[in-house]
Amino acid sequence: MPIELFNNGDHKCVAFTELVQGEGIQANQFLITDGGEGMLLDPGGNLTYKHLLAEMANYFLPSRTRYVFASHQDPDIVASANGWLLITDAKIVIAQEWVRFIPHFCIKGVTEGRMIAIPPKGMDLELGNSRLKLIPAHFLHTVGNFQVYDPLSKILFSGDVGASVMDGHSAGLPVEDFDGHLVESHMDGFHRRYMCNNKACRLWVNMIRQLDVEWIVPQHGGSFKGKAIINRFLDWFETLECGTDLLSEADFRIP
Ligand SMILES: [Fe+2]
Ligand SMILES: [Fe+2]
Repeated sequence: MPIELFNNGDHKCVAFTELVQGEGIQANQFLITDGGEGMLLDPGGNLTYKHLLAEMANYFLPSRTRYVFASHQDPDIVASANGWLLITDAKIVIAQEWVRFIPHFCIKGVTEGRMIAIPPKGMDLELGNSRLKLIPAHFLHTVGNFQVYDPLSKILFSGDVGASVMDGHSAGLPVEDFDGHLVESHMDGFHRRYMCNNKACRLWVNMIRQLDVEWIVPQHGGSFKGKAIINRFLDWFETLECGTDLLSEADFRIP
C-alpha cells in the first residue's frame, strides 16, 4: 500500500515503497501533487515503471505529470525516463552535470526540450500553488546531486542520504530505534561505501540544520520523523568517515 506522508486537501505527498520485486534493490518512489499538478520523485527504472504508473493513477492523472525529478543519474532513480517522457508532457529535472547523460536511457530525440538543468546552487520549483526547494547534496553520493525540500509538509526527500538497504517491509516508515537501525539495516555500511567523503557530509548537515525539517524520507528503506531522531541522524552523518576518507593503498592493488 502507498503511504500518504502528507495531505492537507490541496497538497499531497505519497510514498510507494513496495514496487520493486525480485533482485533489484528496494527503492521508494514519491509523488507530490498540488493544485492539479504533479511531480514524480526518483521514479526508478523498468522494475517500477508500470507498477508506479498504475498506483499513482489512484492519486493523480499520470498524463498530467509536470515534472519528473531525478536526484541523480542512477538506474534505480531514473532509468524509466523514456517511458515517462513518452506518456506525459513532463520535464525531467536533474543536475546540469547529468542532463546529457539521460538521453542514453531514451529513444533518440525524446529528451529534446524536455530537460530542466538544475544549476549547482539549486533552485526553487513551482508546483501548483506550492514552491519546492531543490537543495544541493553534491557528492552524496554523486557529483550533481539534489534533494527536494517541501516547505508545506516540512519533508526532506533526501535521495540516497539516510538510505538503508535491509528493511523491505518497513520501507518508508519512521525508524524508532536509531542505533539498532544503523547496523541492522546496513545504513552504516551503505553510507561508508557510497557517500563520497566527510567534507560533503559536514557541509550538507550544516545547511540542513538551517531548515525546518520534520521528516527525512530517503529513497531506500525507513525514514526519520521528528526533531529528536532527525538530530540523531544529523549528528551521526556529520562525523561519518566515508568514501575517499577510508581509502588506503590496500584499495589500489593490482588484482
Ligand atoms: Fe544512487
Ligand atoms: Fe538509490
